[in-house]
Amino acid sequence: MYLYKNLIHPSGEIMKYVIVYWSRYGHGKKLVTYLAEKLNDRKIETQILRTDEANPNSMPDADLYVFSAPAEAFSLQRTFKGFLKRIEGLDNKKYGIINTHGMDKNRLGQMENILSKKNMVKVAEVDFKIGKDIKSGNAFLEDYKPKIEEFAGKL
Ligand SMILES: Cc1cc2nc3c(=O)[nH]c(=O)nc-3n(C[C@H](O)[C@H](O)[C@H](O)COP(=O)(O)O)c2cc1C
Repeated sequence: MYLYKNLIHPSGEIMKYVIVYWSRYGHGKKLVTYLAEKLNDRKIETQILRTDEANPNSMPDADLYVFSAPAEAFSLQRTFKGFLKRIEGLDNKKYGIINTHGMDKNRLGQMENILSKKNMVKVAEVDFKIGKDIKSGNAFLEDYKPKIEEFAGKL
């Protein structure tokens, strides 16, 4: 059971997780919103930021970071990729990644590649296939809740 894992930081303070996402049609937004709900159930404080609300050079302090973005144009979504590449000051921090994609290939590896260069430490990853092709981008092809719950349990 992971229910009480990470409930309280060794220092005795409440754990805080920061989630940064980019989402065009709202699938990614749904995922991070549900994730935050599940983390809050475990009394973990969460802060959700859109990419344009976060500064990669001066991220809020947190015990763990979650990054979520779609695949677009055969790559990780461009704005979000730029954001990850500009991250500074999160060395040795833990992170989890979420990727949505319309085609078969996910972009988790690309996200991990960038973040490993920042000396960050991956603890969990999850991806979701969206829509029927790259243009439809309008439906989860599976129930996202159990997968997000499993992901949340690893954070
Ligand atoms: C302009 C555009 C290009 C896309 N290119 C790709 C792609 O190359 N590979 C892929 O797997 N999905 C592609 N997609 C599908 C997106 O990954 C999908 O719409 C997205 O994951 C939905 O998440 P969101 O609702 O959070 O934006 C593309 C979507 C758009 C709008």
